[in-house]
Amino acid sequence: MKVIIDTPEQVAVLAAQRYVRLLSQKPDAVLGLATGSTPLGLYAQLVRLNQAGAISFRQVTSYNLDEYVGLDGTHDQSYRYFMNHNLFDLVDIDKARTFVPSGLDTSQETAAAYDKAIQAAGGIDIQLLGIGNNGHIGFNEPNTPFGSTTHMVELTASTREANCRFFHSLDEVPTHAVTMGIKTVMQAKSIILIALGQAKAEIVKKTIQGPVTELVPASVLQLHPDVEIYLDPAAASLL
Ligand code: GLP
Repeated sequence: MKVIIDTPEQVAVLAAQRYVRLLSQKPDAVLGLATGSTPLGLYAQLVRLNQAGAISFRQVTSYNLDEYVGLDGTHDQSYRYFMNHNLFDLVDIDKARTFVPSGLDTSQETAAAYDKAIQAAGGIDIQLLGIGNNGHIGFNEPNTPFGSTTHMVELTASTREANCRFFHSLDEVPTHAVTMGIKTVMQAKSIILIALGQAKAEIVKKTIQGPVTELVPASVLQLHPDVEIYLDPAAASLL
């Protein structure tokens, strides 16, 4: 794993450069995208670069990691809404080629079809990840099998509490989500994980320097041949 440590602003700039390089070589790349507060700086950079003509998403296909069960894309806390507002509506991407798991159709067939569609598109070139305080990637909570593909999960109490800040009350935070599985993520050709802030320091240390274990889902990334981890000094402080 390659670890890059810089200010949050520079992390966004450096990660965005990866996308500039990828899309100049492969304009029809397949991107695996993530939500949460962490990728917002990167998305702002991508919007800026797109508006400046330095990058184009016109031929890109994208697959998002996850979605809350029970929220449709018009709900302001759905991940579809997040992506539209923070990236898709602001760049030249063809929205018909942007995919987010359905929060309304949670059948196994639909989940399996998501993985199949990713493969049929040629596989993900760069999968972007944040990390939950408990080491989750996407919504793969601790103890998710490394062999998992897209599936529905029950969110842990700690994840619901962490994400409660975006809702009016804890009751409103969905109890379940649909997420790409660990295997789905690991099939990406390259992976970029970004973690910012002191609150992520301990889980970052476990992810990079701890044992590879299903108790820390992100630790599986140690087994992937092409992972870049972008950290600010606070998130890197325990390494
Ligand atoms: C959510 C998402 C994850 C994300 C995590 C961290 O639970 N499902 O994909 O990585 O939150 O969020 P944040 O970046 O806001 O810390």
